[in-house]
Amino acid sequence: MLPEVKARIEAFKKIREQENMIKENMKRIRFKIAVLSGKGGVGKSFVTSSLAFALAYQGKRVGVLDADIYGPSIPKMMGVQGQPVYASSEGRLLPVVAPLGVKVISIGLMVPSEDIPVIWRGTLTTSAIREMLAYTEWGELDYLLIDLPPGTGDEQLTIVQLIKDITGALIVTIPSDVSRIVVSKAINFCKKVGLKIIGVIENMSYFTCPDGTKHYIFGEGVARKISSQYNIPFLGEIPIDPRISRANDSGEPFFIKYPNSLASKAVIEITKAIIKSLEGTEGSED
Ligand SMILES: Nc1ncnc2c1ncn2[C@@H]1O[C@H](COP(=O)(O)OP(=O)(O)OP(=O)(O)O)[C@@H](O)[C@H]1O
Ligand SMILES: [Mg+2]
Repeated sequence: MLPEVKARIEAFKKIREQENMIKENMKRIRFKIAVLSGKGGVGKSFVTSSLAFALAYQGKRVGVLDADIYGPSIPKMMGVQGQPVYASSEGRLLPVVAPLGVKVISIGLMVPSEDIPVIWRGTLTTSAIREMLAYTEWGELDYLLIDLPPGTGDEQLTIVQLIKDITGALIVTIPSDVSRIVVSKAINFCKKVGLKIIGVIENMSYFTCPDGTKHYIFGEGVARKISSQYNIPFLGEIPIDPRISRANDSGEPFFIKYPNSLASKAVIEITKAIIKSLEGTEGSED
């Protein structure tokens, strides 16, 4: 047999083996949720990390997979930047543990320094995602949240195809008209690939001044409009809080530092809606 043919067969076998490992891993995770947005910079990673903390706060066993290969921001937002990822004796990746016991895996934990870019072609990013899904030792989880890069391309499709029993998607948007148009792309992507939409979340909805007045900086009620236009559940709105970007920049998780802020309370309400929709029960903060 020609060496190239042999190598191809080996590579194909490896992929099949990894796909089987993913299937086994995913059997131990009850709900697998992809967090999507059509547009970048709408706060998807902040929302993913805060939802993870809020679910763990309500007693759920939670993991976060940062599938953003080129711009992994989950480690910093979850307070685990710089922590090493160890491998078990069987060669499985052991996720790092963030506050409240949330397990985290990200390419950002595997590159030597924050400012070193990952320069890979598309095929390598899909294999990196496949390998993270196959080799990570999550154990038993109630929720796995997957922070996807913005857009509806290769990485998004890879996740949906690899996790055959994926529960559904959360769509994050900001209340701007531009964002509304882009979000419709994410919704159509979900429809095309048969991914259930759990609901839409509006981030950076309004700003409350110290005198209590609410200001809708970008626009008002956009996620509600999307929800009724496409007949998908509206899960809630998270206000703007300047302490969010400060906390994210300094590597202290906002939800942990400010659990009683309006934004954290909004996040808890959103997780309650998610728990109710998926588990049919009310969430609990006890
Ligand atoms: N509700 C909010 N109030 C204030 N700042 C916020 C809020 N949500 C997110 N941010 C800030 O906005 C910036 C973008 O957030 P984030 O990185 O979560 O967006 P993203 O959609 O994941 O971006 P990317 O497309 O680059 O992955 C960050 O600096 C974050 O701290
Ligand atoms: Mg992000």
